[in-house]
Amino acid sequence: MKIAIANDHAAVELKNKIMEYVKELGHEVINYGTDSLESCNYPEFGEKAARAVAGKEADCGILICGTGVGISIAANKVKGIRAAVCSEPVTARLVKEHNNANIIAFGARIVGEETAREIVKAYLEAVFLGGRHKMRVDMIAQMEERF
Ligand code: RB5
Repeated sequence: MKIAIANDHAAVELKNKIMEYVKELGHEVINYGTDSLESCNYPEFGEKAARAVAGKEADCGILICGTGVGISIAANKVKGIRAAVCSEPVTARLVKEHNNANIIAFGARIVGEETAREIVKAYLEAVFLGGRHKMRVDMIAQMEERF
């Protein structure tokens, strides 16, 4: 799969480790930055990766900021994006199986490298279960049409 990845200054080091891990798992990574430790604004980078996923340039995305929250809120403003913050692998599996999340987010100040790797692996290996879950995800898409 093609995986879009983006982060703010709080997560450069973890992003670099996760990019290598995602490649080890056999995927292609598209890096939307930042690669600088200078203070920056997470919405800018979250939006770039989210637009890549929404525009089908990438199959899914991984976003990392201090907590994972700010960058996921920004990504969720892009039509078609379902970004979910995951701090452990069970949630990471379930957001794919039940919510068909097309982006996961986590916090470099919240999870360590080992947990981050487990989160990424659980998400990338999971499959959307469809059925009643599809009906609910479709309801979320319909909400976007009402705005
Ligand atoms: C940056 O200091 C921090 O606010 C950001 O990385 C993130 O945690 C926001 O949600």
